[in-house]
Order: sequence, then C-alpha cells, then structure tokens
Amino acid sequence: KRLIVIGPPGSGKGTQSPIIKDEYCLCHLATGDMLRAAVAAKTPLGIKAKETMDKGELVSDDLVVGIIDDAIKRPSCQKGFILDGFPRTVVQAEKLDEMLAKQGSKIDKVLNFAIDDAILEERITGRWIHQPSGRTYHSKFAPPKVSGFDDVTGEPLIQRKDDTAGVLKSRLEAFHQQTEPVIDYYAKKGAVVNLHAEKPPKEVTVELQKALS
Ligand code: AP5
Ligand code: ZN
Repeated sequence: KRLIVIGPPGSGKGTQSPIIKDEYCLCHLATGDMLRAAVAAKTPLGIKAKETMDKGELVSDDLVVGIIDDAIKRPSCQKGFILDGFPRTVVQAEKLDEMLAKQGSKIDKVLNFAIDDAILEERITGRWIHQPSGRTYHSKFAPPKVSGFDDVTGEPLIQRKDDTAGVLKSRLEAFHQQTEPVIDYYAKKGAVVNLHAEKPPKEVTVELQKALS
C-alpha cells in the first residue's frame, strides 16, 4: 500500500500512522520528523530548514522532494509506505506522482484527517514528545503515567518549538493556502477518503482500518 495521511497540525497524523504502519508492515515517512532530526544534528539541510520551521512556514519544495525521493527508494519501503506531512503543496504532489510513475506505481489512498481548526490549539499546546522513539503524549487527552516522562523508558519528554498558539496560526495558514489544494488534486483522481479526525483516537483508528480493508 502507498498511502498519504494529510490534515492540519494536530489532526492526529503522527498518532495514527505508527499503528497503521505496524498493522500493514509499511514504512512511516514523516518529513517533519526527518527535518527535525536534521535540525538537531545541525546538518546543512537542518541549518537551512530551522528558521523556516520555527516560524511555521513551509521549507522549499526542492528540499523535501529530495528527502522523499531517497526515502521511497529504500529497500525497506518497497512493500509500501505512509507519507506523513508530504506532499504539502501541489508542486510536491506532482513531483511525487512523477517519481512513482518512474517505478511503475502510484498512490493508492489519501487519508484526509478532516477537523475543525478550533480544536487544534488545545491539541498542539498540550503535546509532549519522547524524541528518541517519537512517542507522543498529551497532557489532557493522552497523559503519560508520570507527568513529563516517557512511559517505556522513563526518559524526559519535550515540547516542539513550533507548538505555540502563535506559530500554530502560521502553520494553519500554510495548511489552508498551500496544502488544502493537494486534497482537491487527489480528490479529482478519486483517491481521497475523509476521516472524522475530531473523534477519540481509537475511533479514528477504526475509521482508518475500514478505509484500508
Ligand atoms: P510536521 O511535523 O509535519 O507538523 P504538522 O503538519 O504541523 O503536523 P503535526 O505533527 O503538528 O500534527 P499531527 O497531525 O502529526 O498531530 P499528532 O498526531 O502529533 O511539520 C513541521 C514543519 O516542518 C512544517 O511547519 C514545515 O516547516 C516543515 N515541513 C514538514 N514537511 C514539509 C513539507 N512536505 N514541505 C515543506 N515543509 C515541510 O497529535 C497532536 C496532539 O494531539 C498529540 O499530543 C496527540 O496526543 C493528540 N491527539 C492526537 N489524536 C487525538 C485525538 N483523536 N483526540 C485527542 N487528542 C489527540
Ligand atoms: Zn506529526
């Protein structure tokens, strides 16, 4: 399966993708996670991307297209993948379709995490992350057993630098202006399934499983 999860910041893409990935043995390719790893490692790519990400704007199409082009060629991703956070512009979508056409494949489904903007601030500002594993918690909706620490390793949790109410406004603006057209682009190809992303996590998982069965 070659899947895209798409939706605004905090809609649950990073929460649901690991579940689906394990169930269908897919790779989870999240451009945001890859970029944050590059920023932390201070690679040339990370140095270029940092300021843009901190402002909540999109980094250049060429940067992310390059990352994804490499990633989908990995032997471990040949069974299929979930793209999370990519494509985020119509240009990225067109480039992706070209890359896949060269391999004789295409996107099977685009899972649209549809949700009202009003719910997102609380989700974003309450998010806590265990960086080494990518496990995500929420102070109210999915609290860790011990506040501030990972359930599995006991290591400290962190908050993302762009998870403030102010930066969220820019991220939402980028979503509505640049990413929503990507949903229309794939809807015209008949590939989009709409999910009720405002529901509790377990119910969203069930909707996803139905969409993929
Ligand atoms: P990215 O990392 O992709 O961030 P995003 O799209 O803003 O999405 P989030 O990770 O914030 O949301 P999510 O849907 O994964 O939410 P989660 O499941 O964690 O991108 C970051 C930046 O990188 C961009 O701004 C840009 O600069 C750059 N970038 C990345 N890709 C790019 C690209 N292709 N092109 C250009 N630039 C790019 O959930 C959030 C919280 O809610 C958690 O605490 C969770 O526990 C909780 N939660 C989840 N589901 C539920 C539920 N059903 N009910 C209650 N709470 C829930
Ligand atoms: Zn995410």
